[in-house]
Amino acid sequence: MGKVRLPFGGWAWLATRHAQVKQLLRHPGFSSDQYRPGFPVLNPLPPQQEDATGLFIFMDGEAHSRLRRMLTAEFMIKNIRRIEPLIEETVVDTLERMRAGGPPADLMSDFALPVPSMTISHLLGVPYSDHEFFQEHSRAIMDRNSGPAEVQAALGALSQLLGELIRHKRTSPGDDLLSRLVADRVVPGELREDELLSMAQLLLVAGHETTANMIGLSALALLEHPETLDALRKDPALAPNVVEELLRYLTVVRTGLPRLAMEDVEIDGHLIRAGEGVVAMLSLANRDALTFPDPEVFDPARQEAHRHMAFGFGLHQCVGQPLARAELRIALVELARRFPGLRSLTTLADVPKRHMAVTFGIGELPVTW
Ligand code: HEM
Repeated sequence: MGKVRLPFGGWAWLATRHAQVKQLLRHPGFSSDQYRPGFPVLNPLPPQQEDATGLFIFMDGEAHSRLRRMLTAEFMIKNIRRIEPLIEETVVDTLERMRAGGPPADLMSDFALPVPSMTISHLLGVPYSDHEFFQEHSRAIMDRNSGPAEVQAALGALSQLLGELIRHKRTSPGDDLLSRLVADRVVPGELREDELLSMAQLLLVAGHETTANMIGLSALALLEHPETLDALRKDPALAPNVVEELLRYLTVVRTGLPRLAMEDVEIDGHLIRAGEGVVAMLSLANRDALTFPDPEVFDPARQEAHRHMAFGFGLHQCVGQPLARAELRIALVELARRFPGLRSLTTLADVPKRHMAVTFGIGELPVTW
Protein backbone atom coordinates (compact mmCIF):
# COMPACT_ATOMS: atom_id res chain seq x y z
CA MET A 1 0.00 0.00 0.00
CA GLY A 2 1.38 3.42 -0.93
CA LYS A 3 0.31 7.01 -1.39
CA VAL A 4 -0.49 8.43 -4.84
CA ARG A 5 -1.37 11.85 -6.24
CA LEU A 6 -4.96 12.20 -7.44
CA PRO A 7 -5.91 13.60 -10.87
CA PHE A 8 -7.92 16.48 -9.36
CA GLY A 9 -5.60 17.40 -6.50
CA GLY A 10 -4.68 15.86 -3.17
CA TRP A 11 -3.48 12.32 -2.56
CA ALA A 12 -4.88 8.94 -1.49
CA TRP A 13 -3.72 5.57 -0.27
CA LEU A 14 -3.68 2.95 -3.02
CA ALA A 15 -4.64 -0.60 -1.96
CA THR A 16 -3.21 -3.02 -4.52
CA ARG A 17 -3.02 -6.45 -2.83
CA HIS A 18 -5.95 -8.86 -2.80
CA ALA A 19 -5.94 -9.11 1.01
CA GLN A 20 -5.79 -5.30 1.47
CA VAL A 21 -8.64 -4.59 -0.96
CA LYS A 22 -10.80 -7.23 0.75
CA GLN A 23 -10.10 -5.86 4.23
CA LEU A 24 -10.79 -2.30 3.12
CA LEU A 25 -14.04 -2.93 1.24
CA ARG A 26 -15.66 -4.82 4.09
CA HIS A 27 -14.68 -2.27 6.78
CA PRO A 28 -17.63 -0.08 7.90
CA GLY A 29 -15.29 2.83 8.73
CA PHE A 30 -15.10 3.99 5.08
CA SER A 31 -17.59 6.18 3.22
CA SER A 32 -18.73 5.91 -0.42
CA ASP A 33 -20.30 9.39 -0.39
CA GLN A 34 -18.37 11.21 -3.10
CA TYR A 35 -19.74 14.63 -2.09
CA ARG A 36 -18.11 14.53 1.38
CA PRO A 37 -15.22 17.01 1.68
CA GLY A 38 -11.90 15.22 1.23
CA PHE A 39 -13.38 12.34 -0.82
CA PRO A 40 -10.74 11.00 -3.27
CA VAL A 41 -12.48 12.03 -6.50
CA LEU A 42 -11.26 10.11 -9.59
CA ASN A 43 -13.58 11.63 -12.21
CA PRO A 44 -15.09 15.13 -12.44
CA LEU A 45 -18.20 15.13 -10.25
CA PRO A 46 -21.52 16.17 -11.79
CA PRO A 47 -23.38 18.80 -9.73
CA GLN A 48 -25.16 17.15 -6.79
CA GLN A 49 -28.76 16.38 -7.81
CA GLU A 50 -31.54 16.73 -5.31
CA ASP A 51 -33.60 13.96 -6.87
CA ALA A 52 -30.78 11.37 -6.64
CA THR A 53 -32.46 9.96 -3.54
CA GLY A 54 -32.12 6.27 -4.46
CA LEU A 55 -28.50 6.15 -5.65
CA PHE A 56 -27.47 3.87 -2.78
CA ILE A 57 -24.11 3.03 -4.40
CA PHE A 58 -22.95 6.42 -2.99
CA MET A 59 -24.61 6.03 0.43
CA ASP A 60 -23.35 4.69 3.76
CA GLY A 61 -24.66 2.86 6.81
CA GLU A 62 -28.39 2.39 7.34
CA ALA A 63 -29.39 4.73 4.47
CA HIS A 64 -27.46 2.43 2.11
CA SER A 65 -28.56 -0.92 3.55
CA ARG A 66 -32.23 0.13 3.75
CA LEU A 67 -32.41 0.56 -0.05
CA ARG A 68 -30.02 -2.26 -0.93
CA ARG A 69 -32.04 -4.75 1.18
CA MET A 70 -35.12 -4.04 -0.94
CA LEU A 71 -33.30 -5.37 -4.02
CA THR A 72 -31.28 -8.32 -2.71
CA ALA A 73 -34.15 -10.85 -2.98
CA GLU A 74 -34.91 -9.70 -6.55
CA PHE A 75 -31.36 -10.48 -7.68
CA MET A 76 -30.99 -13.79 -5.86
CA ILE A 77 -29.80 -16.64 -8.09
CA LYS A 78 -33.12 -18.49 -7.89
CA ASN A 79 -34.99 -15.43 -9.14
CA ILE A 80 -32.50 -14.80 -11.93
CA ARG A 81 -32.99 -18.46 -13.02
CA ARG A 82 -36.65 -17.60 -13.62
CA ILE A 83 -35.77 -14.92 -16.16
CA GLU A 84 -33.05 -16.96 -17.90
CA PRO A 85 -35.43 -18.03 -20.73
CA LEU A 86 -36.04 -14.31 -21.41
CA ILE A 87 -32.30 -13.59 -21.47
CA GLU A 88 -31.84 -16.55 -23.81
CA GLU A 89 -34.57 -15.22 -26.13
CA THR A 90 -33.03 -11.71 -26.08
CA VAL A 91 -29.55 -13.06 -26.86
CA VAL A 92 -30.76 -15.32 -29.68
CA ASP A 93 -32.94 -12.60 -31.26
CA THR A 94 -30.10 -10.06 -31.10
CA LEU A 95 -27.61 -12.49 -32.64
CA GLU A 96 -29.98 -13.48 -35.43
CA ARG A 97 -30.64 -9.81 -36.21
CA MET A 98 -26.87 -9.26 -36.36
CA ARG A 99 -26.56 -12.20 -38.76
CA ALA A 100 -29.31 -10.81 -40.99
CA GLY A 101 -27.59 -7.41 -41.21
CA GLY A 102 -24.08 -8.69 -41.99
CA PRO A 103 -21.32 -9.67 -42.34
CA PRO A 104 -19.49 -7.55 -41.27
CA ALA A 105 -21.03 -6.26 -38.03
CA ASP A 106 -20.07 -4.20 -34.99
CA LEU A 107 -20.31 -6.66 -32.12
CA MET A 108 -20.60 -3.80 -29.60
CA SER A 109 -23.58 -1.93 -31.06
CA ASP A 110 -25.22 -4.97 -32.67
CA PHE A 111 -24.91 -7.37 -29.72
CA ALA A 112 -23.03 -6.39 -26.55
CA LEU A 113 -24.90 -3.11 -25.87
CA PRO A 114 -28.50 -4.18 -26.67
CA VAL A 115 -28.40 -7.39 -24.55
CA PRO A 116 -28.02 -5.73 -21.10
CA SER A 117 -30.47 -2.92 -21.90
CA MET A 118 -33.15 -5.34 -23.17
CA THR A 119 -32.55 -7.63 -20.18
CA ILE A 120 -32.89 -4.88 -17.60
CA SER A 121 -36.01 -3.55 -19.33
CA HIS A 122 -37.58 -7.05 -19.09
CA LEU A 123 -36.62 -7.26 -15.43
CA LEU A 124 -37.99 -3.82 -14.56
CA GLY A 125 -41.16 -4.49 -16.52
CA VAL A 126 -40.78 -1.98 -19.37
CA PRO A 127 -43.44 -2.98 -21.95
CA TYR A 128 -42.13 -4.34 -25.22
CA SER A 129 -43.48 -1.33 -27.12
CA ASP A 130 -41.10 0.94 -25.16
CA HIS A 131 -37.98 -1.21 -25.63
CA GLU A 132 -36.70 0.73 -28.65
CA PHE A 133 -37.18 4.07 -26.86
CA PHE A 134 -35.51 2.68 -23.77
CA GLN A 135 -32.57 1.28 -25.69
CA GLU A 136 -32.07 4.37 -27.81
CA HIS A 137 -31.86 6.61 -24.72
CA SER A 138 -29.64 4.24 -22.73
CA ARG A 139 -27.33 4.18 -25.74
CA ALA A 140 -27.19 7.99 -25.82
CA ILE A 141 -26.28 8.03 -22.10
CA MET A 142 -23.50 5.46 -22.58
CA ASP A 143 -22.15 6.84 -25.84
CA ARG A 144 -18.89 8.67 -25.29
CA ASN A 145 -19.62 10.88 -28.27
CA SER A 146 -22.80 12.26 -26.68
CA GLY A 147 -22.36 15.78 -25.38
CA PRO A 148 -23.56 16.79 -21.86
CA ALA A 149 -26.80 18.26 -23.27
CA GLU A 150 -27.60 15.01 -25.10
CA VAL A 151 -26.90 12.91 -21.99
CA GLN A 152 -29.06 15.24 -19.90
CA ALA A 153 -31.91 15.01 -22.45
CA ALA A 154 -31.68 11.20 -22.58
CA LEU A 155 -31.66 10.98 -18.76
CA GLY A 156 -34.69 13.26 -18.62
CA ALA A 157 -36.56 11.17 -21.21
CA LEU A 158 -35.77 7.93 -19.38
CA SER A 159 -36.74 9.33 -16.03
CA GLN A 160 -40.06 10.49 -17.49
CA LEU A 161 -40.69 7.02 -18.93
CA LEU A 162 -39.76 5.33 -15.64
CA GLY A 163 -41.94 7.77 -13.67
CA GLU A 164 -44.96 7.06 -15.87
CA LEU A 165 -44.26 3.35 -15.64
CA ILE A 166 -44.10 3.42 -11.83
CA ARG A 167 -47.45 5.24 -11.68
CA HIS A 168 -48.93 2.76 -14.17
CA LYS A 169 -47.74 -0.22 -12.06
CA ARG A 170 -49.86 1.02 -9.15
CA THR A 171 -53.04 0.31 -11.09
CA SER A 172 -51.86 -2.39 -13.52
CA PRO A 173 -49.17 -4.45 -11.79
CA GLY A 174 -47.27 -7.11 -13.71
CA ASP A 175 -44.84 -9.88 -12.74
CA ASP A 176 -41.80 -7.57 -12.63
CA LEU A 177 -39.43 -5.78 -10.27
CA LEU A 178 -41.06 -2.33 -10.45
CA SER A 179 -44.55 -3.74 -9.81
CA ARG A 180 -43.33 -5.70 -6.78
CA LEU A 181 -41.48 -2.71 -5.31
CA VAL A 182 -44.52 -0.47 -5.86
CA ALA A 183 -46.90 -2.96 -4.21
CA ASP A 184 -44.62 -4.14 -1.38
CA ARG A 185 -42.74 -0.93 -0.55
CA VAL A 186 -44.22 2.21 -2.10
CA VAL A 187 -47.90 1.52 -1.29
CA PRO A 188 -47.22 0.65 2.41
CA GLY A 189 -45.15 3.88 2.66
CA GLU A 190 -41.70 2.28 3.14
CA LEU A 191 -40.26 3.74 -0.07
CA ARG A 192 -40.98 7.02 -1.84
CA GLU A 193 -41.70 7.12 -5.57
CA ASP A 194 -38.72 9.42 -6.23
CA GLU A 195 -36.44 6.94 -4.42
CA LEU A 196 -37.74 4.06 -6.55
CA LEU A 197 -37.26 6.13 -9.69
CA SER A 198 -33.60 6.85 -9.00
CA MET A 199 -33.01 3.23 -7.86
CA ALA A 200 -34.33 2.11 -11.25
CA GLN A 201 -31.97 4.57 -12.96
CA LEU A 202 -29.05 3.21 -10.91
CA LEU A 203 -29.86 -0.35 -12.03
CA LEU A 204 -30.00 0.81 -15.58
CA VAL A 205 -26.69 2.64 -15.57
CA ALA A 206 -24.70 0.33 -13.22
CA GLY A 207 -25.62 -2.78 -15.19
CA HIS A 208 -25.34 -1.48 -18.73
CA GLU A 209 -21.86 -0.39 -19.72
CA THR A 210 -20.16 -2.84 -17.31
CA THR A 211 -21.99 -5.87 -18.74
CA ALA A 212 -21.77 -4.64 -22.35
CA ASN A 213 -18.01 -4.14 -22.13
CA MET A 214 -17.61 -7.51 -20.44
CA ILE A 215 -19.53 -9.19 -23.30
CA GLY A 216 -17.47 -7.41 -25.99
CA LEU A 217 -14.06 -7.82 -24.36
CA SER A 218 -14.82 -11.45 -23.45
CA ALA A 219 -15.73 -12.22 -27.07
CA LEU A 220 -12.43 -10.67 -28.13
CA ALA A 221 -10.43 -12.57 -25.49
CA LEU A 222 -12.10 -15.85 -26.52
CA LEU A 223 -11.42 -15.22 -30.22
CA GLU A 224 -7.76 -14.97 -29.21
CA HIS A 225 -8.10 -18.34 -27.42
CA PRO A 226 -9.92 -20.41 -30.08
CA GLU A 227 -9.33 -23.65 -28.15
CA THR A 228 -11.46 -22.26 -25.28
CA LEU A 229 -14.13 -21.14 -27.72
CA ASP A 230 -14.19 -24.65 -29.24
CA ALA A 231 -14.40 -26.25 -25.81
CA LEU A 232 -17.28 -23.94 -24.86
CA ARG A 233 -19.13 -24.78 -28.08
CA LYS A 234 -18.83 -28.51 -27.34
CA ASP A 235 -19.51 -28.31 -23.60
CA PRO A 236 -21.47 -25.28 -22.34
CA ALA A 237 -21.10 -26.64 -18.77
CA LEU A 238 -17.58 -25.13 -18.88
CA ALA A 239 -19.06 -21.65 -19.20
CA PRO A 240 -19.42 -20.69 -15.49
CA ASN A 241 -15.68 -21.05 -14.80
CA VAL A 242 -14.71 -19.43 -18.11
CA VAL A 243 -16.90 -16.45 -17.13
CA GLU A 244 -15.22 -16.17 -13.69
CA GLU A 245 -11.77 -16.20 -15.29
CA LEU A 246 -12.85 -13.58 -17.85
CA LEU A 247 -14.19 -11.38 -15.02
CA ARG A 248 -10.84 -11.68 -13.23
CA TYR A 249 -8.66 -11.30 -16.31
CA LEU A 250 -10.51 -8.32 -17.77
CA THR A 251 -11.72 -6.55 -14.56
CA VAL A 252 -13.64 -3.85 -16.41
CA VAL A 253 -13.97 -1.49 -13.40
CA ARG A 254 -10.42 -0.25 -13.85
CA THR A 255 -9.93 3.04 -12.02
CA GLY A 256 -10.51 1.44 -8.62
CA LEU A 257 -13.14 2.05 -5.96
CA PRO A 258 -12.59 5.28 -3.99
CA ARG A 259 -13.47 5.56 -0.28
CA LEU A 260 -13.02 8.13 2.50
CA ALA A 261 -11.90 7.01 5.99
CA MET A 262 -14.42 8.19 8.60
CA GLU A 263 -12.31 6.91 11.52
CA ASP A 264 -8.71 5.76 12.03
CA VAL A 265 -8.44 2.29 10.46
CA GLU A 266 -5.48 -0.07 10.23
CA ILE A 267 -5.24 -1.96 6.93
CA ASP A 268 -2.43 -4.49 6.53
CA GLY A 269 -0.28 -2.67 9.10
CA HIS A 270 -0.85 0.84 7.62
CA LEU A 271 -2.66 3.41 9.74
CA ILE A 272 -5.23 5.27 7.64
CA ARG A 273 -6.41 8.34 9.51
CA ALA A 274 -9.95 9.71 9.55
CA GLY A 275 -10.32 12.12 6.60
CA GLU A 276 -7.81 10.33 4.37
CA GLY A 277 -8.82 8.88 0.99
CA VAL A 278 -8.22 5.33 -0.23
CA VAL A 279 -8.57 3.74 -3.66
CA ALA A 280 -9.14 -0.03 -3.86
CA MET A 281 -7.59 -1.28 -7.11
CA LEU A 282 -9.74 -4.25 -8.15
CA SER A 283 -7.71 -4.80 -11.32
CA LEU A 284 -4.43 -5.17 -9.38
CA ALA A 285 -6.01 -7.29 -6.62
CA ASN A 286 -7.25 -9.61 -9.39
CA ARG A 287 -3.66 -9.99 -10.63
CA ASP A 288 -2.13 -10.59 -7.19
CA ALA A 289 0.24 -13.56 -7.58
CA LEU A 290 -0.29 -14.53 -3.92
CA THR A 291 -3.93 -15.34 -4.73
CA PHE A 292 -3.75 -16.16 -8.46
CA PRO A 293 -0.57 -18.03 -9.53
CA ASP A 294 0.64 -16.81 -12.97
CA PRO A 295 -1.89 -13.97 -12.83
CA GLU A 296 -1.08 -12.65 -16.34
CA VAL A 297 -2.14 -15.96 -17.90
CA PHE A 298 -5.76 -16.41 -19.06
CA ASP A 299 -6.55 -19.87 -17.71
CA PRO A 300 -10.19 -20.89 -18.26
CA ALA A 301 -9.72 -23.88 -15.93
CA ARG A 302 -8.22 -21.77 -13.10
CA GLN A 303 -9.48 -23.21 -9.82
CA GLU A 304 -9.30 -20.01 -7.79
CA ALA A 305 -10.90 -17.83 -10.50
CA HIS A 306 -14.03 -17.32 -8.36
CA ARG A 307 -11.93 -15.44 -5.75
CA HIS A 308 -11.74 -12.40 -8.08
CA MET A 309 -13.18 -9.07 -6.94
CA ALA A 310 -14.40 -7.76 -10.31
CA PHE A 311 -17.78 -7.13 -8.62
CA GLY A 312 -16.15 -5.38 -5.66
CA PHE A 313 -16.38 -6.87 -2.18
CA GLY A 314 -18.14 -6.39 1.13
CA LEU A 315 -20.79 -3.77 1.86
CA HIS A 316 -21.30 -2.47 -1.70
CA GLN A 317 -20.52 -5.69 -3.58
CA CYS A 318 -22.44 -5.71 -6.87
CA VAL A 319 -26.12 -6.45 -6.32
CA GLY A 320 -26.57 -7.37 -9.99
CA GLN A 321 -23.84 -10.02 -10.18
CA PRO A 322 -26.13 -13.08 -10.59
CA LEU A 323 -27.79 -11.27 -13.48
CA ALA A 324 -24.47 -10.20 -15.03
CA ARG A 325 -23.13 -13.77 -14.75
CA ALA A 326 -26.26 -15.20 -16.43
CA GLU A 327 -26.08 -12.64 -19.26
CA LEU A 328 -22.39 -13.31 -19.86
CA ARG A 329 -22.75 -17.09 -19.78
CA ILE A 330 -25.72 -17.14 -22.16
CA ALA A 331 -24.27 -14.49 -24.49
CA LEU A 332 -20.90 -16.24 -24.87
CA VAL A 333 -22.29 -19.76 -25.27
CA GLU A 334 -24.79 -18.67 -27.95
CA LEU A 335 -22.16 -16.57 -29.74
CA ALA A 336 -19.83 -19.60 -29.83
CA ARG A 337 -22.60 -21.96 -30.99
CA ARG A 338 -24.22 -19.73 -33.61
CA PHE A 339 -21.12 -18.13 -35.11
CA PRO A 340 -18.47 -20.87 -35.43
CA GLY A 341 -16.65 -18.85 -38.11
CA LEU A 342 -16.55 -15.56 -36.17
CA ARG A 343 -13.38 -13.50 -36.64
CA SER A 344 -12.42 -10.19 -35.12
CA LEU A 345 -10.90 -7.39 -37.15
CA THR A 346 -9.01 -6.11 -34.08
CA THR A 347 -7.06 -7.59 -31.11
CA LEU A 348 -7.31 -7.16 -27.35
CA ALA A 349 -3.89 -5.50 -27.37
CA ASP A 350 -5.11 -2.93 -29.92
CA VAL A 351 -8.21 -1.90 -27.98
CA PRO A 352 -7.75 1.82 -27.29
CA LYS A 353 -7.19 2.30 -23.56
CA ARG A 354 -9.28 5.01 -21.96
CA HIS A 355 -7.16 5.48 -18.90
CA MET A 356 -9.49 7.55 -16.75
CA ALA A 357 -12.76 5.92 -17.82
CA VAL A 358 -14.34 4.08 -14.88
CA THR A 359 -15.18 1.14 -17.13
CA PHE A 360 -12.54 -0.26 -19.43
CA GLY A 361 -14.07 -1.10 -22.76
CA ILE A 362 -14.34 -0.71 -26.47
CA GLY A 363 -16.29 1.76 -28.56
CA GLU A 364 -16.68 -0.67 -31.44
CA LEU A 365 -15.69 -4.22 -32.21
CA PRO A 366 -15.71 -4.97 -35.95
CA VAL A 367 -16.27 -8.68 -36.67
CA THR A 368 -16.96 -10.87 -39.67
CA TRP A 369 -17.90 -14.55 -40.16
C1 HEM B 1 -20.06 -7.55 -15.53
C2 HEM B 1 -20.90 -6.65 -15.13
C3 HEM B 1 -20.77 -5.86 -13.84
C4 HEM B 1 -19.64 -5.46 -13.17
C5 HEM B 1 -18.18 -5.73 -13.52
C6 HEM B 1 -20.09 -4.73 -12.00
C7 HEM B 1 -19.23 -4.19 -11.05
C8 HEM B 1 -19.65 -3.58 -9.88
C9 HEM B 1 -18.77 -3.12 -8.82
C10 HEM B 1 -17.25 -3.22 -8.84
C11 HEM B 1 -19.55 -2.61 -7.84
C12 HEM B 1 -19.08 -2.06 -6.48
C13 HEM B 1 -19.10 -0.55 -6.41
C14 HEM B 1 -18.56 -0.05 -5.08
O1 HEM B 1 -18.24 -0.82 -4.17
O2 HEM B 1 -18.45 1.18 -4.95
C15 HEM B 1 -20.94 -2.72 -8.28
C16 HEM B 1 -22.03 -2.28 -7.55
C17 HEM B 1 -23.32 -2.31 -8.03
N1 HEM B 1 -23.77 -2.93 -9.18
FE1 HEM B 1 -22.65 -3.90 -10.53
N2 HEM B 1 -21.46 -4.68 -12.01
C18 HEM B 1 -21.92 -5.37 -13.10
C19 HEM B 1 -23.23 -5.59 -13.46
C20 HEM B 1 -24.33 -5.10 -12.78
C21 HEM B 1 -25.71 -5.34 -13.15
C22 HEM B 1 -26.19 -6.20 -14.33
C23 HEM B 1 -26.48 -4.64 -12.25
C24 HEM B 1 -27.98 -4.52 -12.15
C25 HEM B 1 -28.81 -4.58 -13.11
C26 HEM B 1 -25.57 -3.99 -11.32
C27 HEM B 1 -25.97 -3.19 -10.28
C28 HEM B 1 -25.12 -2.74 -9.28
C29 HEM B 1 -25.59 -1.97 -8.13
C30 HEM B 1 -27.03 -1.54 -7.86
C31 HEM B 1 -24.45 -1.71 -7.34
C32 HEM B 1 -24.41 -0.94 -6.02
C33 HEM B 1 -24.39 -1.88 -4.84
C34 HEM B 1 -24.28 -1.16 -3.51
O3 HEM B 1 -23.82 -0.02 -3.46
O4 HEM B 1 -24.65 -1.76 -2.49
N3 HEM B 1 -24.29 -4.29 -11.67
N4 HEM B 1 -20.97 -3.34 -9.52
